[in-house]
Amino acid sequence: VRLGLLGAGSIAHVVVDALLAGHLEGVTLVGVAGRELGSPRAAALAQRIDVVATELEGLLARQPDWILEAAGGAAVREHALPIVERGPGLIALSSGGLVDPLVYRAVTERRLLHGRIVVPSGGIAGLDGVAALAAAGGLRRVGLTTFKPPASLRSAPFVQSQGVVLSDSDAHVVFDGSLREAILGFPANINVGATLSLYGLGPERTMVKIVSDPQSTTIRHVIEAEGEAGSLSLEVRSLPNPRNAASSYLAALSAVAAVQQVRDRSTLRG
Ligand SMILES: NC(=O)c1ccc[n+]([C@@H]2O[C@H](COP(=O)([O-])OP(=O)(O)OC[C@H]3O[C@@H](n4cnc5c(N)ncnc54)[C@H](O)[C@@H]3O)[C@@H](O)[C@H]2O)c1
Repeated sequence: VRLGLLGAGSIAHVVVDALLAGHLEGVTLVGVAGRELGSPRAAALAQRIDVVATELEGLLARQPDWILEAAGGAAVREHALPIVERGPGLIALSSGGLVDPLVYRAVTERRLLHGRIVVPSGGIAGLDGVAALAAAGGLRRVGLTTFKPPASLRSAPFVQSQGVVLSDSDAHVVFDGSLREAILGFPANINVGATLSLYGLGPERTMVKIVSDPQSTTIRHVIEAEGEAGSLSLEVRSLPNPRNAASSYLAALSAVAAVQQVRDRSTLRG
């Protein structure tokens, strides 16, 4: 499988770590694309594994089978549809970009999700169960509660615009509403909610609570879903990415697992 990387941050580095350690046998990295040609972060990452550093157009010219995006919601909003229209499949970590109303409509109408566009589990888990509850229309309720240290919430547009005071001693609920509203108020914090919505009830009906928790030492998410077939309740605690304390290590490894899965699917096809 020919793989291109879009984004050269902590997640992309963990994928390159896995390649170098032999966990992605059968995967050939064809290039790393940063925000623009000459991006120093893309150049540094590409050097680790001796591939070309380029921009998206240069990456597409190398004919990857899959592009792994770890570049942010804006990159997904702008590039997800053009990428799959040009041929490669897309593994999208920044699922928040896929719930943008126009992109969401296009990817659902064209049934691109979970096929040409793969959304890894990221910082959460249990998505297979949520999808099963939703498969025959029986999923009634799905919610996520996410616990974040106050420092990671201070610059969020919702906190800034509402003048929310974040306590340094007590845990408190900062936001309670739909994923659609959460993504506008906390665009950098709530990819996990976007991912949950893409496997279940969509962005309007997925409910999100964001708790500011000064005592949290791990990245913690609680997922609850209830439907005709039963219910599930799951807590995920992830350690920080050793390469970026603000990012979940589990999310980075879910990118590695997604690459292994698309590789194995293409092996099946011969
Ligand atoms: N689904 C999840 O649970 C989950 C968890 C963590 C992160 N994420 C997403 O993955 C993204 C990457 O995470 P990270 O820890 O590697 O972040 P990071 O900040 O370490 O790296 C992001 C990199 O992308 C580059 N970039 C930004 N815009 C770009 C563009 N338009 N084109 C190409 N490159 C661009 C940046 O320069 C940077 O090098 C995050 O922004 C977030 O959206 C998702």
